[in-house]
Amino acid sequence: MPISITPLTPDFVGEVAGIDCREPLDAAEIAAIEAGMDRYSVLVFHDQPLSDDDQLAFTRQFGALENYATPGHIVGHQQKRLGPGMADFSNLDKDGNIISAEDRIWFFKLGDRLWHSDSSFRPIPAKYSLLSGRIIPTWGADTEFADMRAAYDALDPRTKAMVEDLVCEHSLIYSRAAIGFTDLSDDEKAAFKPVRQPLVRIHPVTGRRSLFLASHAGAIVGWTIPEARMFLNELTEHATQREFVHCHKWRVGDLVMWDNRQTMHRARRFDRNEVRDVRRTTLGGEAAIPVKTGIGEAA
Ligand SMILES: [Fe+2]
Repeated sequence: MPISITPLTPDFVGEVAGIDCREPLDAAEIAAIEAGMDRYSVLVFHDQPLSDDDQLAFTRQFGALENYATPGHIVGHQQKRLGPGMADFSNLDKDGNIISAEDRIWFFKLGDRLWHSDSSFRPIPAKYSLLSGRIIPTWGADTEFADMRAAYDALDPRTKAMVEDLVCEHSLIYSRAAIGFTDLSDDEKAAFKPVRQPLVRIHPVTGRRSLFLASHAGAIVGWTIPEARMFLNELTEHATQREFVHCHKWRVGDLVMWDNRQTMHRARRFDRNEVRDVRRTTLGGEAAIPVKTGIGEAA
């Protein structure tokens, strides 16, 4: 069966059929998936029982993995359950036990339930994220996606003109403070030093504009903090209205791939006494392209 992509929502989420993600793709299949990512920005692959090596090999066909040797890493999180290149979005510790509710690693994970774009707190934010569902709780644990191109398009003309040249500061410090988790070490505060990102970014292939928002954004250059936070809240409310949002309900073996340059996403609540084992591979991206060259450069 040749590869096919069927819309789940018009021009936002597509369902891919006709490929086995454990097998190497040919050039036409890679091109079809990349074109699908450019058009939709979220692609769902069902019935893909991947090992970590399978997932890494599949991901690398679309580019280089994200380089985590950049600011933003969680200090002291070296006791990992998974190998290099695999990001652990489970609620399990390195021994396979459910993480304590008081564990600060759990606090970091809880922050993923706020709307965000992966690695917007790094100088080079993520391009694609690929999340593989290995063990899925019986209730909840959905992942929601918001279309930031549609959200940008729907802004009123005055707000569009206002956001065009704005630059935000993103940091894990802001997103974790939003859930009351402020107990960060000096090393973590240094590693989470805010980075600057344009509020409107341009897709390098399609040229489409999208709002580059995330709960990691906590300041706007040249604005007071209260004014910036209120405006970012308002934009986030606008961008995450139901008409821009798709909810993915996980089945074991799902692989979901999204373009962080044109979407936000958030994890949804589940019973923490049940195991959730989802594993992410992440493609490195390019510096966000601002509307006017130079706007997004770090100070
Ligand atoms: Fe994420």
